[in-house]
Amino acid sequence: MVLCVKVKREEAKKVKKKLIEKRVMNTDYKPEHSKDFVFFPVKEKVSGLEVIERELERVEKPKNLKEELKKIMSEEEIKKLVTSFDVIGDIAIIEIPKELESKERLIGEAILHVHKNVKVVCKRAGIHSGVFRVRPVKIIAGENRTTTVYKESGAVMKLDVSKVYFSPRLSFERSRIASLVKPGEVIGAWFAGVGPFPLVIFKKQPRVKIYAIELNPDAFKYLEENIRINKAQEAIIPVLGDVREKVKNLPLFDRVIMPLPKGGEDFLELAFERVKQGGVIHFYHFVPKEGAFEKTKQVIKEKACGKKVGIISMRRVRDFSPSMIQVVADIKAFKYSSSAVKKTKVL
Ligand SMILES: C[S@@+](CC[C@H](N)C(=O)[O-])C[C@H]1O[C@@H](n2cnc3c(N)ncnc32)[C@H](O)[C@@H]1O
Repeated sequence: MVLCVKVKREEAKKVKKKLIEKRVMNTDYKPEHSKDFVFFPVKEKVSGLEVIERELERVEKPKNLKEELKKIMSEEEIKKLVTSFDVIGDIAIIEIPKELESKERLIGEAILHVHKNVKVVCKRAGIHSGVFRVRPVKIIAGENRTTTVYKESGAVMKLDVSKVYFSPRLSFERSRIASLVKPGEVIGAWFAGVGPFPLVIFKKQPRVKIYAIELNPDAFKYLEENIRINKAQEAIIPVLGDVREKVKNLPLFDRVIMPLPKGGEDFLELAFERVKQGGVIHFYHFVPKEGAFEKTKQVIKEKACGKKVGIISMRRVRDFSPSMIQVVADIKAFKYSSSAVKKTKVL
């Protein structure tokens, strides 16, 4: 039995519009038409309408989003839409091309219909910008909220996708770095955001001291809350402010994590100063695809200002645009001894 509203045929069109607008239509079932009435399946009671329980036919679940979109869009239109999207917690974030804006609501509803774990669909309404690297979003379907709870490697993170930077695409990197950390390390999680790097490290290696530094007050609020939620108060110390200022009063680090791909090179010199002799820096960098590793190596050499460094490894993290990629370099920093460098493989 399914909850549905019983509507006179002549009122059906108007009521259907209202149910869609109120986002209460239960799209898992088909409406049923009798001689005098239409029965619309609904998710909850709707004031002003007669609500009853009735057997209704289930809608056959579409196999994938493309199939669902075929009901509302032409093949040409579907080609224009990139059907892959990020899911953060229960919020999907999708790119809607300008020419498909008139159908954004329907596209959002289609995503909700196919992906039952998604409760909110947002479209990207701009690029990551400003110091906080926040990207504006607009809700196009589902519940009216931009906050969610995201889980990764056993860590739970609350965040607001409209107020903080967050990328689920760095999950491999977070787990890779967590697996390198040894007990007792003092770690600088610079540009910490809501805490994904420190929290994933903590879940794998709780016997550490991580200074998580973040400038965006909204991200910092979530960072503090996430530390509490994950009971990581002993291991993670949240620090609100600019890395440039804050690190002066902190101990030297065994490991510095620098996930600020745009402009991160401006902090690299500081990282060489604040890391212990033989410590490691994980440097994230946007760089042209062509000769990416060579170019990154050049930047590292410049910023080392004559100090000896060993590049332990470099890897492509992801494509950023058709011509740019994101790379990460794991750098062993030697403040004084050049002989130690010779023992480290330099790419
Ligand atoms: C690309 S985001 C990375 C956030 C997080 N580590 C993640 O992976 O989701 C960079 C973060 O650095 C913060 N930030 C930018 N400049 C900063 C600075 N000078 N000191 C501290 N944090 C800064 C931004 O607010 C933003 O949250």
